Order: sequence, then C-alpha cells, then structure tokens
Amino acid sequence: MSQRHHTSGHHTSGHHTSGHRAPDAGRAPLLVVDDLRTEIHTPRGDMKAVDGVSLTLDAGETLGIVGESGSGKSVLGRTIMGLYTTGSTMTVSGRVLVDGADVHALTAAARRELWGTGVGMVFQDPMTALNPVKKIGLHLTESLRGHGGLSRAAARARAEELLRLVGIPEPARRLDQYPHELSGGMRQRVVIAMALANSPKLLIADEPTTALDVTVQKQILDLLGRLQDELGMAIILVSHNLQVVAGRADRVAVMYAGRIVELAAADALFAAPRHPYTEALLASVPRLHHPPHSRLEAIGGAPPDMVAPPPGCRFAPRCRYAREDCRQASPVLGPEPGPGGGPENGPGNGREAARVSGSEPGGEGARVFACHHPVRPVTAGGS
Ligand SMILES: Nc1ncnc2c1ncn2[C@@H]1O[C@H](COP(=O)(O)OP(=O)(O)OP(=O)(O)O)[C@@H](O)[C@H]1O
Ligand code: SF4
Ligand SMILES: [Mg+2]
Repeated sequence: MSQRHHTSGHHTSGHHTSGHRAPDAGRAPLLVVDDLRTEIHTPRGDMKAVDGVSLTLDAGETLGIVGESGSGKSVLGRTIMGLYTTGSTMTVSGRVLVDGADVHALTAAARRELWGTGVGMVFQDPMTALNPVKKIGLHLTESLRGHGGLSRAAARARAEELLRLVGIPEPARRLDQYPHELSGGMRQRVVIAMALANSPKLLIADEPTTALDVTVQKQILDLLGRLQDELGMAIILVSHNLQVVAGRADRVAVMYAGRIVELAAADALFAAPRHPYTEALLASVPRLHHPPHSRLEAIGGAPPDMVAPPPGCRFAPRCRYAREDCRQASPVLGPEPGPGGGPENGPGNGREAARVSGSEPGGEGARVFACHHPVRPVTAGGS
C-alpha cells in the first residue's frame, strides 16, 4: 500500500502546513489543465460551468480551489477526472494531462484504469458514493478488484488495511457493516479509503468535510494531510469555505463564474488578496486574518447566470471597485504588469496560469489574477 508512492520524503509528523513542498525542479507537473471548458447543455441554453481554466499541480502538492456555490468547482473536478466528457449533455474542450496522459483522449477502459492509479476522487456527498444495501467491505473490494486483479482474500485483506489507514477502529468488523451503521465521520473515512484504494497520485477531494461538524472536519482534514505525507500524493482540495484550505493548501485558486480569478501561494493570497472577489471572500470569513472588531461582510448580490454571463468582468455587478471599463472588456488572468506594462492588466491570457507552477523558479511566490483595478497591496490610509 503506502510503499507504492513514497516519493514525497516529507514526514512532518502529520502536521501539514502550507508551502512546505520542495518542488522537483525540471520535472513535468503531475497535472496540467489547459484552457479547460465544460459547457452543459440545458433547455435554456449552454451553461459555461467551466470557462477556460488553466493550472498545473506538482506531485505531492496541495492546491485549494475555493469559490461560492455554483462557481464550477465540482464540474471542474469531475472534468479533470474525465467523468464529464463531451457527449449529448455537455461539450468539453481544452486539455487535461495526468502524468502526461490526455484524460479526454483516453479510451473508456484506459480512463477507468487511470481512476484507480492516477486520480482518485472524494465526492461532495459521501452518501451518494455509498450504496446503502452494500456492506463497507464490498465497497472497498469493488474499488480494488477492477484494477489490482487481486484474489478475494487478498482484496479483503487490502480493504481491512485501507480502513486501518484512514483511522477506522476495528476494521475487520466494519467490513461487514452497512453504511448506515457508521457515523458521518466514519462514512467519510470510508469514502476516502475507496478513493485511495489503488494509491492514486492525485486525489481530488470535493468538499470532503461539508456535512460534518467542526471537530470531525478537522479530524478528516488532518487525516488527508497525514495520508498525503505517507503516500506522497497530490491533492486538490475543493471547498466553498476558505478556512478549510487555510493552512493546508500550498497554493489556492479562487473561482468565480467558471473561471479562476486569482491563483497564488496560499500565504500570499490570504495575506494580501489582489482580486476584489478574493478580498470579499476573505472579508466574509470569520476570524481569518481579521483585526478584532472588524465587521463581517457578506458578498452582496448573486453570481451571474452562466447561460448568459454579463459582458466584461463577471464580477462587475457586485464589485466595489468596478468602473466603466470593467463592464466592457473582460480582464485576463495574468501576473502583475511591470512598470512598462500596457494599459490592460498584464500580458497574460487564459493560459498564463499554466506557467504559475511550484516547479518553476520562484513559482511558489508567483501570482496571477484577472482584474482591471486590483486591490492595492498594503495601503496605509485608503478610504
Ligand atoms: N449535471 C448538471 N446539469 C446541469 N447543470 C449543472 C450540472 N452540474 C452542474 N451544473 C451547474 O453548473 C454550475 C456549476 O456547478 P458546480 O456543482 O460545479 O458548483 P460548485 O462550485 O461545486 O458549487 P457548490 O459549492 O454548491 O458545490 C451550477 O450552476 C450548476 O447548477
Ligand atoms: S475588473 Fe473591475 S469589476 Fe472586475 S473585479 Fe476588477 S475592479 Fe472589479
Ligand atoms: Mg460542488
């Protein structure tokens, strides 16, 4: 089990902090997402649920993806997995490379193979991932057998080992129980064990703790950090809650209306957001980088209709910094323009983010954002 991907070399006694990964210089990223678009065909028209997302992820790295409900986080995760592909209900374009393999160009059989060893996913709702009439052991052995070619006995032994790995006491007994006999936290551990069954190099954890109380949330997130250190896997941690990714992600991508609007090292992003939406998200989180007595602000207004998004910047109707130009030209994702930079915000296009990787020199500190009038970093005075 855990010996398969012992590549990280980080044994930080289970304490997972951001920015601790030493990138493997010169190695291709584990994950490359290039201008990914997922258009869902609806009776009202095509919904641009994911609208030109580019990013990379190194082996062993943690990327947080945050944004309001409906911003496209789950659709992005499922499209990266290759669960969402072009068909009668949607159109996918762009590229996803996992360890060099183009997920959307694979045959269905090769993609299933990839789901075992390349990418695992913890789905947003643990109960839908578990069949109420199937025992826990069967869930796990079914996750295994398609890939490992194991005998029944070996699969059961591995299932028990997996339950132990995710911190479930008396694993042998649990194998013979049904999902409803377990607490919510235990069920989520089972779902994580299923995703880990074949030691994926990348785990996509979509809101892994939403349905759980705060104490259990912390246990599950700590578990993911410990597993990451033990197994050396990369994690995409998806949450609408910034506090979930704070202190756990190396980098954070902020999604708004199907696009990444800011991507930066977690510490830098939390300390000084540049995109007004990131700033607003941070302002709506209690006790995170807030001076005492500051007011908690909800983000006014609603996200745009993704069937007919507004022209220009999609955040403009809700943005306190919006000016006329924002409603005309869509800001592109790119780095801070230099002193000689043009009037537009940065030279980047949608693909710029692909170069903002931990594997590049200085990459940990690199930041991209899409805004014509970004939040000024550290201003004394101000309004
Ligand atoms: N299968 C589908 N058919 C139609 N619309 C869909 C489908 N899946 C997602 N959508 C729509 O795509 C948009 C993005 O949804 P998505 O589930 O990715 O949001 P999210 O960021 O994960 O939100 P949440 O934080 O609530 O989980 C939403 O408007 C959603 O209603
Ligand atoms: S481009 Fe304009 S409207 Fe959009 S986030 Fe920046 S300042 Fe606000
Ligand atoms: Mg979701």
